[in-house]
Amino acid sequence: MVEFNLPENSKVRPGKTHDAPEGATNVRRFNIYRFDPDSGENPRLDVFHVDMDDCGPMVLDALIKIKNEMDSTLTFRRSCREGVCGSCAMNIGDKIGGTNTLACTKPIEDIPGDIKIHPLPHLPVIKDLVPDLTVPYAQYASIEPWLKTNSQAPTSERLQSPDERDKLDGLWECILCFCCQTSCPSYWWNGDRYLGPAVLIQAYRWMVDSRDEAIGERLNELNDPFRLYRCHTIMNCTSTCPKGLNPGKAIGGIKGYLARRR
Ligand code: SF4
Ligand code: SF4
Ligand code: FES
Repeated sequence: MVEFNLPENSKVRPGKTHDAPEGATNVRRFNIYRFDPDSGENPRLDVFHVDMDDCGPMVLDALIKIKNEMDSTLTFRRSCREGVCGSCAMNIGDKIGGTNTLACTKPIEDIPGDIKIHPLPHLPVIKDLVPDLTVPYAQYASIEPWLKTNSQAPTSERLQSPDERDKLDGLWECILCFCCQTSCPSYWWNGDRYLGPAVLIQAYRWMVDSRDEAIGERLNELNDPFRLYRCHTIMNCTSTCPKGLNPGKAIGGIKGYLARRR
């Protein structure tokens, strides 16, 4: 009998169990959240026993194996398989309430017990491990994430000194996976009005770009008790970022710009 260890008040119900092939001796158990909002049924946790002697090392390898060999209806996003597209972000751990991270760069062997996989938290679910990113992407569009200039365009490219270019390091690497966004308690409670760490690190990326000439209007747009100042420096965002970035510090940078111009 498989133990699910679901909290007493959980609406998630125990689901189906899929066994490993007969004779498999190196088996890990994956508990995976399944939900189809159109079905009218509550979410469930399905159990997949995966033969690790015939599986790649990362959580995404196991998900692909499960989809190919055990249940083709399992739904998740992925593209690059090397941590650069951000699409395989999900919540992974050995207990419910694990860590938001990228399935393609998360080694299975780093997770000691059963592997529990849920969609990124506090977003509507489209199906299984696929969250609805409509709101975060609309918030991203609202910060106008492109180079804005008023001056005459130069006849060649807009140049930067090495020092100016260095200021973009730690910012340009953001892959918009939204792991930080969905780990932020302020975003959980005010996600309709607070822009959240993923969007704010992107906003800061354009502010510090020496070629951008719109920092004043960018700051005006963010100078708002909800859009920016819902950040209370809890720093969950920075702890969870799978790219090792520091969105909390970037938010501090925006607040610093605003404080200095008062
Ligand atoms: S530092 Fe700000 S953005 Fe990051 S988790 Fe805390 S409240 Fe959210
Ligand atoms: S800051 Fe990190 S966690 Fe947040 S969206 Fe960018 S890459 Fe993902
Ligand atoms: S598949 Fe692209 S980041 Fe994981």
